[in-house]
Amino acid sequence: MTTRREDLIAAARVAAAGAYAPYSGFHVGAALLMSDGSMVTGANVENASYGLSLCAETVAVARILSTAERGALEAMAVSGGEPGAPGQGPTVTPCGRCRQVLVELAQLSGTDPLIWCDGKDGVLEVRLSELLPHAFGPANLT
Ligand code: THU
Repeated sequence: MTTRREDLIAAARVAAAGAYAPYSGFHVGAALLMSDGSMVTGANVENASYGLSLCAETVAVARILSTAERGALEAMAVSGGEPGAPGQGPTVTPCGRCRQVLVELAQLSGTDPLIWCDGKDGVLEVRLSELLPHAFGPANLT
């Protein structure tokens, strides 16, 4: 698990370099680990109409959900900070909207993924269910 964690954090840091964040100057990368061992990354994509900006986690989940073979979400790493320095500032945890977006994929998967949040003080490890307890998701609509 340790190696997977380090690999995923590293992938999130690399993904942060692809951020389009000219307004906040805060570059975030997310890396999803699927049960088949594949990784999918995303970075935040901002918009001149600020409220339309997309977080890195949401971009990564959209990439998975827009493919036919969705697979199961095992873990996600998120890292962010100043350009070129992801993980060197305060710990980045997924925003509330992203938690809900992640629940959609997790419930489809039947998993409660580990979430690894990078920061200068180390990696915070939590389950998605801890970040968003009693979540509403696709299971509530069946
Ligand atoms: N952001 C993310 O991409 N993920 C998070 O978990 C927190 C915030 C983005 C949104 C915005 O583009 C920038 O970081 C500053 O809030």
